[in-house]
Amino acid sequence: MDIVSATAGDATTTTPYRMRLLAGWADTGTTAGLAEHHRRYAPLPPAAFAGRGGPARLIGLVESSGLRGRGGGGFPTARKLAAVAAGRGPRTVVANGCEGDPAGAKDRVLMELAPHLVIDGILLAAHAVGAAEAVLCVHEDSSAIPVLAAALRERGATRTPIRIVEVTRRYVASEETALVSVLDRGDARPRGRFPRPTERGVRSRPTLVDNVETLAHLALIARYGDAWFRAAGTDDSPGTTLVTVGGAVNDPGVYEIELGLPIGAILQVAGGPLVPVQAVLLGGLGGTWLGPEFVRTPLSHAGCRTAGAALGIAAVIALPAAACGIAETARVLRFLADESAGQCGPCMFGLPAIADDMDELALMPDHAGRVAARLRSRLAVIPGRGACAHPDGAVRLAASALHVFADDVAGHAEGGPCRWVGQPSWMPVPAPAGRRR
Ligand SMILES: Cc1cc2nc3c(=O)[nH]c(=O)nc-3n(C[C@H](O)[C@H](O)[C@H](O)COP(=O)(O)O)c2cc1C
Ligand code: SF4
Repeated sequence: MDIVSATAGDATTTTPYRMRLLAGWADTGTTAGLAEHHRRYAPLPPAAFAGRGGPARLIGLVESSGLRGRGGGGFPTARKLAAVAAGRGPRTVVANGCEGDPAGAKDRVLMELAPHLVIDGILLAAHAVGAAEAVLCVHEDSSAIPVLAAALRERGATRTPIRIVEVTRRYVASEETALVSVLDRGDARPRGRFPRPTERGVRSRPTLVDNVETLAHLALIARYGDAWFRAAGTDDSPGTTLVTVGGAVNDPGVYEIELGLPIGAILQVAGGPLVPVQAVLLGGLGGTWLGPEFVRTPLSHAGCRTAGAALGIAAVIALPAAACGIAETARVLRFLADESAGQCGPCMFGLPAIADDMDELALMPDHAGRVAARLRSRLAVIPGRGACAHPDGAVRLAASALHVFADDVAGHAEGGPCRWVGQPSWMPVPAPAGRRR
């Protein structure tokens, strides 16, 4: 897999930028063992955050760094740290390394190439919130498990014990309240938006659930400081991020880029478009389609928001001009509908219904106008009504498809069924037979 880096600013060239999370990999081409990790980043300063005020100093540093979560929501990390630290009784840290969205590969790459950075981040987060235990959740069949297990063995006893827990490979199983349920009862279903895990998580303890990339950035901020972290990225989205680039590009893979880099430049980092590209799916399968304006859209929270999108898991999938966005969206919606945990009506019934509508739009042109109207009315009533945000992502995807591929919808209405039916899909959606229930 090619891993390169780029800096913000120029949409056409890829200026070398010093990598952070993947620096060790860039230099050696191998997983960083503990000695290499220490050579690269130096051991964690043991005294830096010691003493009574140490944890608060660390949280303050994270706050001034502006670090935001890399698990999809972009929530300010310091606020979660502070909320858990302020909780009563024993606390827990859960590192989310599951990466349930098939559009992403960055967490697996990070854990395989820089496992000690993730471990440092977990230990620092545990120190900041005063947790006596930490759990690292990874999908049951992940190739990162042996690497992480070896890295933990290499560490020996750590100040906070870290155990690896294997989680079933389901899209919603890695939502934060689903992880809490897995750890408490072995049931990988979201349990509802409130109370948040920061208040009442694993065994009813205040629990910090953070993405593994977020924790790896925290490990670097603790070493090099807030100003260093902010030297890359934008005001609103500081730092670098790992981005997974897929679809019609020459070198699909995981790249570390500076936040704020235009998406057109990110495709160049990934070897450039394979064929002319009409749109990108941004943020994961429950993400947003962006039309040709993607070329200049900065990959930052503010930049994506201005374009009507969300950064999500920082995945970018390039869709060729010779592909049908409606048919591709229908495939993804079917996957998302099949992945519902089946416990909330709007999700259980609403997602299959919008997947059916999108299928109809692609395949039954006679009804296109009526089906599009029905689909729009369904999209208006689903968001915010599930126990987790899974249906909201599916609605975002469908709504953006109707907007970006409006010409396709009109074309289907006038010109018969989709011309691209039967073509291989550009979407990283597992075939139905291969899906895990
Ligand atoms: C359906 C669904 C699936 C999710 N899957 C993941 C995941 O695989 N990995 C992850 O880090 N966060 C995932 N999240 C987000 C988590 O709920 C949680 O917000 C995140 O782990 C917090 O970490 P962060 O603050 O570091 O971003 C998912 C959310 C939803 C709604
Ligand atoms: S909204 Fe869907 S995925 Fe989320 S808990 Fe309800 S049924 Fe499960």
